[in-house]
Amino acid sequence: MRLLVCGGAGFIGSNFTRLRLRENGDRVVVLDKLTYAGREENFHDYADDPSFRFVRGAIEDPQAVARALDADEGDPVEAIVNFAAETHVDRSIAEPDAFVRTHALGTYVLLEAARERKLRYVQVSTDEVYGSIEDGSFSETSPLRPSSPYSATKTGADLLVQSYFHTYGLPATICRGSNNYGPSQYPEKLIPLMILNALHGDPLPVYGDGMQVRNWIHAFDFARAIGHVLERGLPGEVYNAGGPDECPNIDVVHRILALTGAPESLIEHVSDRPGHDRRYSLSSEKVRALGWEPRVRFAEGLEQTVAWYRDNAWWWEPIRSGDYRAYYERQYGRSLA
Ligand code: NAD
Ligand code: TYD
Repeated sequence: MRLLVCGGAGFIGSNFTRLRLRENGDRVVVLDKLTYAGREENFHDYADDPSFRFVRGAIEDPQAVARALDADEGDPVEAIVNFAAETHVDRSIAEPDAFVRTHALGTYVLLEAARERKLRYVQVSTDEVYGSIEDGSFSETSPLRPSSPYSATKTGADLLVQSYFHTYGLPATICRGSNNYGPSQYPEKLIPLMILNALHGDPLPVYGDGMQVRNWIHAFDFARAIGHVLERGLPGEVYNAGGPDECPNIDVVHRILALTGAPESLIEHVSDRPGHDRRYSLSSEKVRALGWEPRVRFAEGLEQTVAWYRDNAWWWEPIRSGDYRAYYERQYGRSLA
């Protein structure tokens, strides 16, 4: 297949692109704005693959989208897979404007391009659109109750995608994942932040009591689920892809301390996130019926992820010595070592 992967220089989009190039023999054009979270380092190992093209540009820019779709006239794009997003809840609380622009306007521009060219469309979305759940798991028909500017704007984008199916018959699907982890995740997120702080002897900032629960899925498994939805999903349908394991944040932090050999005294309970969702959990029966199963259990995936960050300082060194330091100071009120 010939794919346009938007946001393919980010964490999950680059893992998805690698998988499609290597295991499915697809040809991929990546369109990415290269925000702070988008990095060419993420595709260093396939940048020279003849089946891969990179176009720098924003999804809310119709000319950039047209440039990416026309990157190779002899081999027209058949489907758009949209990962492009602002993805950090804490940043959405501090500065929501880019979230509204990318999720609302950007998704609209991509949908218009898909409609005009009669392309298949997959929107990559999140369990956070359902809000928090005390017991049990969300299914695809659960009500949408987002609580942060991040999840509210992602929900808006999902609703717009569904409207293009209902109104124009666009063959669009949505795949909603639970919390991802794995190699090359930007260290503003819980797992890489705690791993790098532990490796450097910096305090580990746990929000509130640390008893919030997340449903962890390895990025490799989420990328495979999106591939299943792309190939086998029914137009107009939503598919949840949740990880095989749930874990309270404080237990994640204890596991990271054990894997890095850092002392427990680094744990520091800090002020809670405003509007913090207590628990996320997805049931994934519908995507399992398409033949998908998660392959990576959390204990094994976390161990591999810690090893990856330990062995790939070339990847995170420029982040940790760059703008991320200023972000960290603003967010946590202290400097990194
Ligand atoms: P990320 O922050 O690592 O990457 C986002 C990418 O999008 C970056 O490369 C960035 O440069 C690009 N981008 C941002 N705005 C853009 C714009 N306007 N135009 C073009 N490119 C733009 O994010 P991620 O963790 O890889 O998440 C990818 C997708 O998966 C997002 O849609 C997110 O909502 C969804 N998702 C993430 C998780 C998770 O735990 N990380 C879980 C479920 C769903
Ligand atoms: P995060 O990785 O930001 O993902 P999300 O908010 O999308 O679930 O956070 C995961 C959990 O970890 C969430 O409950 C917030 C918590 N957390 C901390 O306790 N400390 C931190 O420094 C960060 C970044 C997150």
